[in-house]
Amino acid sequence: METEKKPILEMRGITKRFPGVVANDHVDLELFPGEVLALLGENGAGKSSLMNVLAGLYRPDEGAIFIRGEKVQIDSPRDARNLGIGMVHQNFMVVDTMTVAENIILGLTEVSMIPDMGKISDRIREISSHYNLKVDPSAYIWQLGVGEQQRVEILKQIYRGAEILILDEPTAVLTPQESEELNNILRQMTSEGKAAIFITHKMEEVIAFSDWVRVLQHGKLVTVKRTSETNPQELARLMVGREVLFRIDKAPAEPKDVILEVENVDANDEKGMPALKGFSLQVRQGEIVGIAGVAGNGQRELTEVITGLHPVLNGSIKINGKDMTNRSPLAIIRSGVSHIPSDRIAMGVVGDMSVANNLVMKGYRRKPITHGGLLDPRRILDFARRMIDSFKIATPTPDTHVKFLSGGNIQKTILAREIDSCGGVLVAAYPSRGLDVGATEAVRNEMVRQRDKGSGVLLVSEDLDELLSVADRIVVMFEGQSMGELSSADAEVEMLGLMMSGVSKKKAEKEYYGSDHATGV
Ligand SMILES: Nc1ncnc2c1ncn2[C@@H]1O[C@H](COP(=O)(O)OP(=O)(O)O)[C@@H](O)[C@H]1O
Ligand SMILES: [Mg+2]
Repeated sequence: METEKKPILEMRGITKRFPGVVANDHVDLELFPGEVLALLGENGAGKSSLMNVLAGLYRPDEGAIFIRGEKVQIDSPRDARNLGIGMVHQNFMVVDTMTVAENIILGLTEVSMIPDMGKISDRIREISSHYNLKVDPSAYIWQLGVGEQQRVEILKQIYRGAEILILDEPTAVLTPQESEELNNILRQMTSEGKAAIFITHKMEEVIAFSDWVRVLQHGKLVTVKRTSETNPQELARLMVGREVLFRIDKAPAEPKDVILEVENVDANDEKGMPALKGFSLQVRQGEIVGIAGVAGNGQRELTEVITGLHPVLNGSIKINGKDMTNRSPLAIIRSGVSHIPSDRIAMGVVGDMSVANNLVMKGYRRKPITHGGLLDPRRILDFARRMIDSFKIATPTPDTHVKFLSGGNIQKTILAREIDSCGGVLVAAYPSRGLDVGATEAVRNEMVRQRDKGSGVLLVSEDLDELLSVADRIVVMFEGQSMGELSSADAEVEMLGLMMSGVSKKKAEKEYYGSDHATGV
């Protein structure tokens, strides 16, 4: 029985301090062989810090760690690896120009001077077929999607002998199919007596993947529960400290004039392959148009051609009736377009600048922040404090450099800035990706608020629940083309799913409703 099981890992009284913040405050953790522990908490609650302590990246200020009952000292990632601890990081790093196999052995000191790539590849194939992980050892990383890159990261940890696998928000970027695959890997691992710690904001995954749940709040452990004895509502409440609704209250849209018009646009991706093929779309003032699709079907290019970050080959983009095709990002910002990019770390913030300055990076052209043409530091600080407060950005001070914030709080900084500065059009790519439940709710409500103030919102998301609850209409993208659109009031998930796999609306309707069904949006 479970009660006789001895923990494979125990962390006792772990405390980790950073200047101005206690990331972990006497945290206890137990992990049993053959089990998955879900570690939950709001952005900035201290989850990554605790795992970084375990992985040998951070030295704890207090506390002790035991592996199979024996006290251990973990001073480096190598110590952690030798103890069978493997971590897939929140912003994982793989080297683009290397192959899968090269990435997997990268940094392994055990490898002889001239590694036998043939043997290594064989071993990788063996592991991947055992875990049903489809990975080609000779593929280059740049050829892989994010989900596949993550598979490589997991494979790497297994290759290195991980008995305790830590996954820090692994499914923030995965499609539903990839997340299912991840569940299978975890099942396979745990059936062999290995164990995993899993950090996620997705409640369905907590329920489906884990055996135990631990919740952190402001660095402290607040709850330990058996997954079978809790539910998403309770967990959300424990994390956020209040009831979370999981739904949006919104009135029907009252669309006015067209504010964004994409007409017959062709564009290539970074490798020169067609990414948008004659794509057209209209967004009106006072409506939210959702874009559904499996990642990599041109969504990124769509948001980037609109915001001037990617060239348009054919076709046109009009904002407020004015032709803005291939204009500079600055000209497009000035015409009233705000952008929440999908790659927030690279495009959204300057890590070496303070939170306050990052928050005003776009707003500074407006009146209250400048004073006689000069930036007014007092007003910047006031503005920053207001944003930090309303978006609950966890930062020790407004002057803290953004690079010291947790991933979720960096996102909130960009969201606060872009949503607040929206001047008519908001282009939001995966706005709730990686955000905790409380922040997700805030961001969704904020998008609806912008709509009700008369903005046109384009919402790209992989989360169908998000699209169905936030968007007014949903356009499905597949291989750079539109498969048709549905009004979200009567869109069925199965229909969307069919269209996302490349079935046109007409055919999908036939398949789903039978031949004599007629609808119109
Ligand atoms: N290297 C660091 N330097 C300074 N502060 C940090 C560092 N890493 C994390 N923190 C701070 O510790 C707190 C917890 O962060 P983190 O563990 O990343 O939270 P979570 O993963 O739960 O979102 C945050 O306030 C964050 O700003
Ligand atoms: Mg984190």
